[in-house]
Amino acid sequence: MRILSDGCAHSGSLGLPAPFPILSVETDNYRTKTFTIDLSLDALPGQFVMAWLPRFDEKPFSLVAADPVTLMVTAVGPFTNLLHAMGPGDPLWIRGPFGTSFRLPGSGLRAAFVGGGYGVAPLLWLAQTWRRQLEGATVIIGAGTAADLLYVDRFNALQKEAMSPGVPLEVLTCTEDGSAGSTGLVTDLLSDSLRSGETDLLCACGPHGMLAAIDSLGDEHNIPRQLSWEAYMRCAIGICGSCELNGSVLCLDGPVLEYGRTEQDAQPV
Ligand SMILES: Cc1cc2nc3c(=O)[nH]c(=O)nc-3n(C[C@H](O)[C@H](O)[C@H](O)COP(=O)(O)OP(=O)(O)OC[C@H]3O[C@@H](n4cnc5c(N)ncnc54)[C@H](O)[C@@H]3O)c2cc1C
Ligand code: FES
Repeated sequence: MRILSDGCAHSGSLGLPAPFPILSVETDNYRTKTFTIDLSLDALPGQFVMAWLPRFDEKPFSLVAADPVTLMVTAVGPFTNLLHAMGPGDPLWIRGPFGTSFRLPGSGLRAAFVGGGYGVAPLLWLAQTWRRQLEGATVIIGAGTAADLLYVDRFNALQKEAMSPGVPLEVLTCTEDGSAGSTGLVTDLLSDSLRSGETDLLCACGPHGMLAAIDSLGDEHNIPRQLSWEAYMRCAIGICGSCELNGSVLCLDGPVLEYGRTEQDAQPV
């Protein structure tokens, strides 16, 4: 099933959600599952959809992939726990895609992709999409403990098979308690990586504190960055104002905001 990118996963004009069956559910860790849905969208890495459970609630999720739609869901509260109880054949109501994508400003760049917790969700697709145009990439995945790390195996698989010949993809992990990878925060690894002077662009998704620290590091090293911010989203179409962050309406202007580079320099791929 192919649906066009009109902000609406069915043919109506009001952006109403429509039901699509869950095809498969994969367990990623003790509180995270990846859902594949019988739906294809014309969308770009960084964009998100709204998932609705009728008579309950509606929440935003980054696209892990768009064809078919794939969502990584970490169970943190009522909605995500209810979603975790669903399985193949159950209908999930979707509208979207919404928001801005990551944008590749040129070819031959060396990018760092930084994900904290479920913030890695959009980054695998991003690395896959850009891999032919990059000169090299470093992926930094961080979490509290080894049990919370996500998609390390998927990035390792990408490292082995999918980059252009000769293009290095480095996958680094860290945990706050030192139970896997290096001990510390993603910004510690990023800081070391930036000191080598081999990064042209930072792309990151994760909690606000992590993104603020990455923004400061990028500023310090004069490196453009594209940061995907979380916010409480209700309408996802710029009406309710619940997603405002420092003057940006994140469902329209974001979730991916650019820093240290003019908007005209960056084009969607
Ligand atoms: C653009 C975007 C993309 C997202 N992508 C993903 C994804 O790929 N995978 C995923 O698991 N989650 C993602 N989220 C977050 C997801 O929407 C929330 O975790 C979800 O709303 C939780 O609903 P709940 O009812 O289960 O828990 P709630 O009870 O709503 O929340 C549980 C806890 O998380 C906090 N919280 C919930 N939503 C947010 C938020 N938007 N910003 C800051 N804190 C919040 C609450 O304060 C509370 O402490 C995304 C959010 C946005 C805005
Ligand atoms: S979610 Fe309503 S304005 Fe952004």
